[in-house]
Amino acid sequence: MSHFLVIVGTGMLEDAVLTWNQQGHTVTVVARKKEKLKRLVSRADFPKRLHIVQSDYLQLEKFKNQLAQLSAPDVIVSWIHRSGNDAIQWLCNHYKVSDTRIAFFHIKGSSAHNPKQNFIPPYSNSIIYHEVILGFQLDSGVSRWLTNTEIAAGVVHAAEQKPPQYVVGTVEPWDKRP
Ligand SMILES: NC(=O)c1ccc[n+]([C@@H]2O[C@H](COP(=O)([O-])OP(=O)(O)OC[C@H]3O[C@@H](n4cnc5c(N)ncnc54)[C@H](OP(=O)(O)O)[C@@H]3O)[C@@H](O)[C@H]2O)c1
Repeated sequence: MSHFLVIVGTGMLEDAVLTWNQQGHTVTVVARKKEKLKRLVSRADFPKRLHIVQSDYLQLEKFKNQLAQLSAPDVIVSWIHRSGNDAIQWLCNHYKVSDTRIAFFHIKGSSAHNPKQNFIPPYSNSIIYHEVILGFQLDSGVSRWLTNTEIAAGVVHAAEQKPPQYVVGTVEPWDKRP
């Protein structure tokens, strides 16, 4: 069984967190609001294996201190907006020298499809870096953004299959995006 560190695990990744918890993994979820975190724990099959950390990744010094107290996870799932790129870089630096290799799933919006807008943090050999790009759905020529259910299922699938890059939905043709 693995230890998943999910930043941010409330919101669209809640079903992914609950799936990993149900599968027997230990999951540590980071988000800002305690009520949302507690509500997530109340929905878990194994609440004792779902740990919460109330933290704001934009308050970097406090975030670093809080996360530095955690034991090293086996898997990091990061849904951190571009404004929090410093937090992503800190995570990669913090786990630079780790006894075991850590799988890092960097969830990104559809704009990451464009290499000029894709932020890939420098990382060491102790990290196995995977990117998960959230695309869109195209049905009979009509496009729409992904639902939370589709996003969570896609991220769970990516964490099982572990490809270097995984697209939830599609990013092609780009001019058909909603
Ligand atoms: N390609 C696509 O189709 C696509 C891509 C992205 C999003 N979406 C959709 O858009 C919706 C909204 O997206 P979203 O980006 O708001 O994601 P979200 O995962 O639905 O919500 C963001 C979560 O992040 C937490 N959060 C926000 N800022 C934080 C911070 N600085 N530090 C720690 N936690 C923080 C919030 O909880 P707290 O307030 O408790 O911190 C909230 O639970 C999603 O539900 C999804 O369905 C679609």
